[in-house]
Amino acid sequence: MSNDFKRYLITSALPYANGPVHIGHLAGVYIPSDIYTRYLRLRGRDVISVCGSDEHGVPITIKAKKEGITPQQVVDRYHAIIKDSFEKLGISFDIYSRTTSPTHAKTASDFFRKLYDEGKFVEQTTEQFYDEEAKSFLADRYITGTCPKCGAEGAYGDQCEVCGSTLSPDELVNPRSTLSGATPVKRETKHWYLPLDKYESMLREWILEGHKEWKSNVYGQCKSWLDGGLLPRAVSRDLEWGIPVPVEGAEGKVLYVWFDAPIGYISATKDLTPDWEKYWKSEDTKLVHFIGKDNIVFHCIVFPSMLKAHGDYILPENVPSNEFLNLEGRKISTSKNWAVWLHEYLVDFPGKEDVLRYALCATAPETKDNDFTWKDYQARNNNELVAVLGNFVNRALVLTKKYYDGEVPACGELADYDRDTIAELSEIKASLESNIENYRFREALKDAMNFARIGNKYLADSEPWKLIKTDAERVKTILNIALQITANIAIAIEPFMPFSAAKILNMLACEKFGWERLGAMDLLAAGHHIGEPSLLFEKIEDEAIQKQLDRLEEIAKQNAAAEVKAEPQKAECSFDDFQKMDIRVSTILEAEKLPKTKKLLKLTIDTGIDKRTIVSGIAEHFTPEELVGQQVLVLVNLAPRDFRGITSQGMILMAEDATGALRLVQPNEKTNNGAMVG
Ligand code: MF3
Ligand code: ZN
Repeated sequence: MSNDFKRYLITSALPYANGPVHIGHLAGVYIPSDIYTRYLRLRGRDVISVCGSDEHGVPITIKAKKEGITPQQVVDRYHAIIKDSFEKLGISFDIYSRTTSPTHAKTASDFFRKLYDEGKFVEQTTEQFYDEEAKSFLADRYITGTCPKCGAEGAYGDQCEVCGSTLSPDELVNPRSTLSGATPVKRETKHWYLPLDKYESMLREWILEGHKEWKSNVYGQCKSWLDGGLLPRAVSRDLEWGIPVPVEGAEGKVLYVWFDAPIGYISATKDLTPDWEKYWKSEDTKLVHFIGKDNIVFHCIVFPSMLKAHGDYILPENVPSNEFLNLEGRKISTSKNWAVWLHEYLVDFPGKEDVLRYALCATAPETKDNDFTWKDYQARNNNELVAVLGNFVNRALVLTKKYYDGEVPACGELADYDRDTIAELSEIKASLESNIENYRFREALKDAMNFARIGNKYLADSEPWKLIKTDAERVKTILNIALQITANIAIAIEPFMPFSAAKILNMLACEKFGWERLGAMDLLAAGHHIGEPSLLFEKIEDEAIQKQLDRLEEIAKQNAAAEVKAEPQKAECSFDDFQKMDIRVSTILEAEKLPKTKKLLKLTIDTGIDKRTIVSGIAEHFTPEELVGQQVLVLVNLAPRDFRGITSQGMILMAEDATGALRLVQPNEKTNNGAMVG
């Protein structure tokens, strides 16, 4: 390997335990980190991969309040869901911890205390919003009011979700506390700040000079933060939920979630191994943080400053960070339920863990935002996993069963074509390694799949099924090579698709190989008995995909309805105006489409006063059959109007919802026709 580290410490951003994990998290952070870790393990490196739930922070307390449960109950629920779904997807953390653990409380608290004792913080008193009724300082998220930019109600102290503006609570018009509804007042409060400005030159040198090899999105963000000048950052908050600030006179204050969370990497390592210090405190360790792009500043500027201030710890060697994954052309949103949730995927597509890993790695937003679509997912499965990888492995194994009763045939003399094929494989090996080591996982996946592509081509070109009749000796060599390629595939795809790699090994009846064996053509000895072939992947049918698309469409509709604001109220009308309208309960007796029109229905109505005709423009919304027999409300004294030579006497009342769908307005129980409405 290009650089000489004795051991590796891989961290993956700790997911907030206020919701389950979705495909955006997976493609951006967890699948890349797992590929990297599995690769290093296969190479026999000393590597540990740590992660855990991020269980503090205001969104968790807000969620708890909304649901009438405690923050602990919220995080217990999601920690269990997240941990379980990661395991099922084969994300192979050595430990999945949590920031509510006792180890973490002590580690984070001691960390703060050391910096405090050594005078690394500055204390500052500022004015913050305070709710006098709830007797509590208010986090930005706990203050709502009118957005100063777009005028929407219900904007938060940090953001307006209607127009997307970033706000500060001072800007809100008519601010109110979400705790009590009271108008918040300003009150003085003391907090501890980490003076990031003091670490600026260290950071400049370390990143801008020392790590020009970082991905350009990461390097660029760091550069613009550093060029903009760093300011002291508060590392404490006035909140109840969190790790108490371990200092006298700090009652009611906790560590800011972005102070405690990254320390979670350290506490997770402590919980994993008593040898944790060698991973965190030795320059021989390569520390790599896998994160999403919204975490860059915390991992490249804030946490390294904390680590430096502390003094005992190494800094990360790299911080591979991805852009965002969209879903069917729209931004993934937890609050809008616009996501594919991992725990739901695992239920809907049992046994297809590797398909998701494959599809997400192949569409990972490595250099720019990318889009996940279900059609693409289906195509990748059907055209790549089934048609290339599965097909090749299956052919090699089935032919071996058929011709040699499952015994690996001996390799005879190599033909030129065999040699070329083998040489090609070793070239891919080099590219695959370099791509993984440089965090280009999409390219690496293509390399791994190329083993199968080459195998497929090798069989298609050499046609053993034809040769068996004319040159049975040659077929032995061909199938020996095809089986060696199959065993190679089990190595090459393991970081990406561990379940399928294990399945191949199982079908070959052999143990796991180390990475150094990749490219070897003697993985299977002649005479070795392989196991039973079975299909590696199955075709995914349109119905399964349509089900997912239907679900998303339903969510999109609900979101559209929730976003639409009611029309503003019309001008005032007098009671007399209202009294002029004569509205009656009526029954629809007959309904038919008016010929040569799209929209018009001719209805015969029993108003209780008479039977009459009404022409209504609702043919696109209702069939005649569903209307007949329905009771409706009819404005009976509306001046008659002619439609296509038919006189319409009155109007049926309808409600139009946000999606444009029409609903009949009906009495909630059968009522006599002619009953007055008013
Ligand atoms: N919970 C954060 C997020 O989802 C990530 C925390 S990473 C850590 O954006 F370093 F702070 F742990
Ligand atoms: Zn706004």
